[in-house]
Amino acid sequence: MTSGYGFLRPFIYALDTERAHDLALRALRMGVVPAFPPKPDPRLARTLFGVRFPNPVGLAAGLDKDGSTIDGLLRVGFGSVEVGSVTPRPQPGNSKPRLFRLAPARALINRYGFNNEGLPALRARLERRKGRAGIVGVNLGANKDSADRVADYVAGIGMVAGLADYAVINVSSPNTPGLRALQEKEALVELLARVTAARDVATAAKTGKPLPVLLKLSPDVTEAQLADIADAVKASTIDGAIVSNTTLDRAGLGNAPQAKEAGGLSGRPLFRRSTIQLARLRRLVGPAFPLIGVGGIDSGLTAWQKFEAGADLVQVYSGMIFEGPGLIGAILRDLSSRLDADGAQTIAAIVGRKTDDWAAMDLISP
Ligand SMILES: Cc1cc2nc3c(=O)[nH]c(=O)nc-3n(C[C@H](O)[C@H](O)[C@H](O)COP(=O)(O)O)c2cc1C
Repeated sequence: MTSGYGFLRPFIYALDTERAHDLALRALRMGVVPAFPPKPDPRLARTLFGVRFPNPVGLAAGLDKDGSTIDGLLRVGFGSVEVGSVTPRPQPGNSKPRLFRLAPARALINRYGFNNEGLPALRARLERRKGRAGIVGVNLGANKDSADRVADYVAGIGMVAGLADYAVINVSSPNTPGLRALQEKEALVELLARVTAARDVATAAKTGKPLPVLLKLSPDVTEAQLADIADAVKASTIDGAIVSNTTLDRAGLGNAPQAKEAGGLSGRPLFRRSTIQLARLRRLVGPAFPLIGVGGIDSGLTAWQKFEAGADLVQVYSGMIFEGPGLIGAILRDLSSRLDADGAQTIAAIVGRKTDDWAAMDLISP
């Protein structure tokens, strides 16, 4: 059991899942969550798309949708915090219940549907913490009722430029109907052209830092779709990609009643699929293109495996819900000792070592 969380767990588990998450965030915000991250290990630092990450373990999008808890989350040891998804206008998301815990499988199913306070509210919070340390990415979504979803991403880029260290175009949430169609070839080519043009305009207009833009992908794309995505990405000037969002697949959950809930599945059962898709994309885009691996990381070993499969950086969400915030320090310590044992000089040196092995695996375990 990880420090500072174990004693809270029985109480938290007794609560409705969404309320428990909100309470945990509030505790982080108030700084009452004890977490003891190790002192920074320079071998774990990475500089990608012009941004220096003090360590390669970030918080994935969706926990701090409105950027209310950035500093509390950085304090538990994350090398970066990705806030959002945020849409131009506030929206309530789907009706409750919309978050389900499958504890024995160490998985979550959510169908939040981009509930958030909207870009102006997030922008105001980012303005208030301007100048403070810590890498902050903003994950951009599109409003459910938007007539031009690409225009929503373009608006998002304009709103966060100068305030975020990077932005993410999230076209992979399964909970906004039709959103994932933006990953199809023609739509994606147009999307990438418009968002990179918006990035260039925003970067030219501000005297501040440039805004790298990344694309976040679904783990449920076919091999042919992934090849199209890689072609579109290579033909564009997008700065990187994140693999992956949650899955609609329900393999390996047995007959748990919660498994029938609609929504995106995350956590341990997503590890294999998201890591295979990451490795396959790594093969298609080559070693130099920045990739962030996310899905099912809940230990130093699973983080290490993501790097071997081809991730430059990793992100965690569900693992922290089950293990508590002490997980982040535990992963960082474990990565440092793995480097000692391995003899590799830096974490960058292990990236992609096992890409071919992972890429050759079947998505569904035999
Ligand atoms: C409750 C919940 C809400 C999420 N909301 C978002 C979101 O708003 N935007 C997004 O890009 N990903 C969202 N995600 C996906 C995570 O960022 C991540 O890609 C996914 O959960 C896989 O990582 P994990 O297995 O470590 O949780 C959400 C995940 C969960 C569990």
